[in-house]
Amino acid sequence: MSKGDLRSKKIATRIIHAGAEPDPSTGAIMTPIFQTSTYVQSAPGVNKGYEYARSQNPTRKALEDALAILENGKFGLAFSSGVAATDAVIKLLAPGDEVIAGSDMYGGTYRLFTKVFEKFGIKFKYVDTSHAQNIQDAVSPATKLIWIETPTNPLMNITDIAAVASISKSAGALLCVDNTFASPYLQNPLDMGADIVMHSSTKYLGGHSDVIQGALMMNDAALREQLYFIQKSCGAVPGPMDCFLVLRGIKTLHVRMKQHCENGEKIAHWLRQHPKVGRVYWCGFEDHPNYDIAKKQMRGFGGMMSFTLKDDTVEAATKVLSSTHVFSLAESLGGVESLINHPAVMTHASIPREERIKNGLSDGLIRLSVGIEDVDDLIEDLQNAIG
Ligand SMILES: Cc1ncc(COP(=O)(O)O)c(C=O)c1O
Repeated sequence: MSKGDLRSKKIATRIIHAGAEPDPSTGAIMTPIFQTSTYVQSAPGVNKGYEYARSQNPTRKALEDALAILENGKFGLAFSSGVAATDAVIKLLAPGDEVIAGSDMYGGTYRLFTKVFEKFGIKFKYVDTSHAQNIQDAVSPATKLIWIETPTNPLMNITDIAAVASISKSAGALLCVDNTFASPYLQNPLDMGADIVMHSSTKYLGGHSDVIQGALMMNDAALREQLYFIQKSCGAVPGPMDCFLVLRGIKTLHVRMKQHCENGEKIAHWLRQHPKVGRVYWCGFEDHPNYDIAKKQMRGFGGMMSFTLKDDTVEAATKVLSSTHVFSLAESLGGVESLINHPAVMTHASIPREERIKNGLSDGLIRLSVGIEDVDDLIEDLQNAIG
């Protein structure tokens, strides 16, 4: 199916056919894994569009085309990890430039900003982006990039993408949205005015906890050229086997996401009525502070959530975290299997405790990545662990 035809199709068709052209040499329906570092040239500079695999690889190209289609973008770029994709975006900037970023976000992004890029003279201001006005108030002439995560990891805060896009446009800054938690099935930030969408493809895009990878999608050709230049110059490219795994994962994104949403909804409501559970953070509750915005910009609420126990201590949380059997205690999210995580000790340990607490991430917070197992078994597992 030509790319033009594909863009007019419904999401399930787009997801399955994105980037999938039969291999011209054999007709193979699945994109081959081009495990090569270089390509033979018939004369110096005369080649078939591929010179050296850091710059181009046909398996990666198929994936990058698929990534663009998934986010309704013109271009996609794949990176060796989500963090490498974020790193490429920050490398668009120069010393003295300012970034406004969310105060509640993935710990590794915060670590990259504070521990790597601050020393190169890039300034970061952290605000609660769930109130777009906070971003507006932080804008200065040096603001070149606004970085938001929505929903946030791990507190499920929601930011109004369209409102922030209009702030970024009038400030002359780029807006990049980390769309990892929603996945392109639930939310498409480019359609709401974002300039760049970032994904940790390790999560829902891959979907099977078997690959580390990142992605950037965009519409602007000049921006794509700049980011492609950074991709090939800095070299954080994924290998062809990993590109194949993400291409394969993408084909079931819609069916997986439907089940993540269904299971997530049941578990969020179940947790909420549990007498030993304190607060449940899930953006599908009608009394979530930004529920209306979530409903407007997302097609569903996903399978990510966090909760505290009424006994909000590390000891009580640790007991639950160590007692599940269907939920595995592990970092990461977005795979078919359910995971349970302790952000303060695991995924968000790189954020200083004081900062974490200030932003509402308590020591006892428990994060769930609800998988697509039978939901009754998941609930029974949590019941046994919480007691
Ligand atoms: C929201 C979010 N963004 C970015 C990343 C980083 O991605 P990766 O681990 O693929 O480098 C993660 C990883 O957990 C994440 O949860």
